Amino acid sequence: MTIILGLESSCDETAAALVTADGQILAHRLATQEDAHRPYGGVVPEIAARAHVEALAPLIEAALADAKMTLADVDVIAATAGPGLIGGVMVGLVTGKALAHATGKPLVAVNHLEGHALSPRLADQDLQFPYLLLLVSGGHCQLLRVDGVGQYRRLATTIDDAAGEAFDKTAKLLGLGFPGGPAVEKAAARGNPRAVPLPRPLVGTEEPHFSFAGLKSAVMRAAQSGQYAVEDIAASFQQAVIDCLLDRTRRALAASEGVTALVVAGGVAANQSVRGALTTLAQDHGLPFVAPPLWLCTDNAAMIAWAGAERYAAGMTDDLTIPARPRWPL
Ligand code: KG4
Ligand code: ZN
Repeated sequence: MTIILGLESSCDETAAALVTADGQILAHRLATQEDAHRPYGGVVPEIAARAHVEALAPLIEAALADAKMTLADVDVIAATAGPGLIGGVMVGLVTGKALAHATGKPLVAVNHLEGHALSPRLADQDLQFPYLLLLVSGGHCQLLRVDGVGQYRRLATTIDDAAGEAFDKTAKLLGLGFPGGPAVEKAAARGNPRAVPLPRPLVGTEEPHFSFAGLKSAVMRAAQSGQYAVEDIAASFQQAVIDCLLDRTRRALAASEGVTALVVAGGVAANQSVRGALTTLAQDHGLPFVAPPLWLCTDNAAMIAWAGAERYAAGMTDDLTIPARPRWPL
């Protein structure tokens, strides 16, 4: 069985994982940099890049040890080549190239978004193409029709902030700390989602896209008014985001004939209320709902190894000149 080593370093998680071509996760290791970035309330690219340099090689060794393997047992090296914070991307990609060069094994350069997009197939081996994917992370908010490996049609994207970015900014505004998404979710659980009137940008419009900037400004005004409890603002904000995600996804579903499932991936997909709302939406459309387990929604290397497995199986490998890309649309 083909064994793929996956490396991820595009944001603030350093990770290494070993996955087989039939979807067994042999090992996955991750080091989060949350503590290093917390004092700044967000990810500092320079700090991130240096931390990846320190963390990555030991994580690879640990993953190999977990699987009771050596590099000789690995068949394919897969590394994130973008999009992301370029210093970090370079650490993982150059490491992957060096390993591929030294061992003579093939290299697969993975688009981080493709890692998220295919991760539901690692979690659920029965998931077939085509599916409608809501990809909601810190840097992206997109609806994609996934027709096959390397075949992605973008139906919608955000015209300003990503959904995760809106969670992070709201957390900062409300003094809930970093990372923002889980903090807002926790506060929201104790609040009233109808307490604060907030806009639902673009909901009900004919255009397919997302927008969260207006929502963020409204949250700021609500916080500054001193009229509302933090928990109520968090709950109302989360509900507004969910309403936007649902409305836009419903619209995309109507335009997506023949899809086998509604699928969600990316860090915001770790949010239980988001998952719950999407489950109901899928049911209403008679479609199965597929969401990876929480740890596979946020950044990790198993999804990169898996995307590497899928690309390798489709005959897609890369040579050692492949560039690291800060921007790289799917
Ligand atoms: O996919 P990811 O780990 O990294 C990117 O590729 O961006 O996503 C991180 C984003 C952050 O904005 C984070 O606040 C958000 O996902 N997030 C959440 C939750 N967990 C992570 N947002 C809402 N609720 C959560 N539980
Ligand atoms: Zn991500």
